[in-house]
Amino acid sequence: MGVDRGLTSYGDEGFSRFLRRAFLASAGYDADDLDRPVVGIADTSSDYTTCHREMPQLAEAVKRGVLEAGGLPLVFPTMSLPEILLSPTSMLFRNLLAMETEELIKAQPMDAVVLLGGCDKTVPAQLMAAVSADVPAVEVVAGPMLTGSWRGQRLGACTDCRGMWARHRAGELDEAEIGDVRSALATTGGTCMVMGTASTMACVTEALGLSPAGTATAPAASGDRLRAGTSAGRLAVAAARDDLRPSTLLSRASLTNAVTVLMAVGGSTNAIVHLLAIAGRTGLDLTLDDFDAIARRVPLLVDCKPSGSGYLEDLHRAGGVPVLMKTLEPLLDLSARTIEGGTLADRLAGVEPAPSWQTTIRPLDEPLGPPRALAVLRGNLAPDGAVIKLSAATPELTVHEGPAVVFESPEDVTRRIDDPALDITPDSVLVLRNAGPVAAGMPEAGSFPVPRRLAQQGIRDMVRVSDARMSGTSYGTVVLHVAPEAAVGGPLALVEDGDVIRLDAPAGELTLLVPDDVLEQRRARWTPPPAPDRGWRRLNAEHVLQAPQGADFDTLRPAPQGSRGARTGSGDEE
Ligand code: FES
Repeated sequence: MGVDRGLTSYGDEGFSRFLRRAFLASAGYDADDLDRPVVGIADTSSDYTTCHREMPQLAEAVKRGVLEAGGLPLVFPTMSLPEILLSPTSMLFRNLLAMETEELIKAQPMDAVVLLGGCDKTVPAQLMAAVSADVPAVEVVAGPMLTGSWRGQRLGACTDCRGMWARHRAGELDEAEIGDVRSALATTGGTCMVMGTASTMACVTEALGLSPAGTATAPAASGDRLRAGTSAGRLAVAAARDDLRPSTLLSRASLTNAVTVLMAVGGSTNAIVHLLAIAGRTGLDLTLDDFDAIARRVPLLVDCKPSGSGYLEDLHRAGGVPVLMKTLEPLLDLSARTIEGGTLADRLAGVEPAPSWQTTIRPLDEPLGPPRALAVLRGNLAPDGAVIKLSAATPELTVHEGPAVVFESPEDVTRRIDDPALDITPDSVLVLRNAGPVAAGMPEAGSFPVPRRLAQQGIRDMVRVSDARMSGTSYGTVVLHVAPEAAVGGPLALVEDGDVIRLDAPAGELTLLVPDDVLEQRRARWTPPPAPDRGWRRLNAEHVLQAPQGADFDTLRPAPQGSRGARTGSGDEE
């Protein structure tokens, strides 16, 4: 235990212990310090990750909590994943961060780990790592930004970034105005303050029982956030003493509770991919069909953008995830365990119902929106599944039939979407392919813009279909995560301009209205796109699984599947 855990291999254990203590002495630690349980603190601070700019202070709060509880805190840096500054997409590096964090947890001596994450892919990567390392782990998120305002309108990243940019594209905001808006969208440290991927994963992590109760929504700049850090430090020491590992804490109950919360917050479609990846690491059963089944019985309760109108600070003031879960109590499995050492029933025992003065958390019998905030689609265009965020879609477009306009890649979209010669009408179905996990690391390219010509005519939404993801802050009638992806020969690869595509989201169907024999002729002519020839991108292309399997690596799951998702058939069979 402690600093003697996992000794460095010098062929002499006594010497290894001696040397380790000699070097730790150089950092000021004495024998008393080195007899304590060690809590590693995985720090994803980076100047590139502006969302984490308050993290150094948060790490100090965690250290204080660890010391108070009698542990020895040791901070270690890991790579960071700045959503906005990484190219081509942070998702390409989620599994790299997961792998790095897992190996650092396993290779360095620690009895527990506190994971400091926040910006989109950092939290799922850290949870995947914690599950695989199976060391007692507490996740503490950076917390959301506070809102800004422009001309009296409250603004937040990044739903309003997209809305304002769409107005600029449509000619409603000039250069000076969009410049002013730019300064009002991200006003403090912290993660995007709408129910985007970061906020969704924060809520889902608390629902999983892996973050201290009430900590998901506290703004980055608040004292609540620092207290979250201190309590996480104390809990990590207790978890180390009780050997409360993810393998003993996580269960099918905790996973289905997390999916229930995901639906109630109208959360990001990205959380589907991440939860499937986390579940895949546990070996517990969770499939796309579970998301569909749970979505059908859980209404939208939380009024946050993009599904609603509020922001994370409103949700925090209303009581955050504990009050939300209290509201959802009849739909939850209260036997799930939590990082506090008890059950969800224990956690919720002292929580008061949602106060009447607030409107951010709605009651079950008076929800903000109907069940099925997210829906799973299947059909000959997505045999292994696709998803759509119904709570952020245009209701009239959720049943739609139209001719395809096909883009070969995200770069092709950039090149041609505003081309005046593009043969396109508001009824067209925009298809983007070669943006899946193997082809491109699954960028958030799925909610690409309505062509400028149509935007200027007042068209704000069109049906879009892709094997990409979209930002949790986006909205629109956007079908995502089509599996198998085009690059491994999924039917999306066979679509041609003018083919009629039928979306019937209420029925859960996505259909390419082209005869089977024609599709077979096209398949005989199809060739895969060139694969990357070196480095991480080559490893990714060779090992990443499809979206229904969480786009994790085959080599990182407990029982390696041995081949890429598309070749093993439906992810739901696993
Ligand atoms: Fe970091 Fe949105 S860009 S959370």
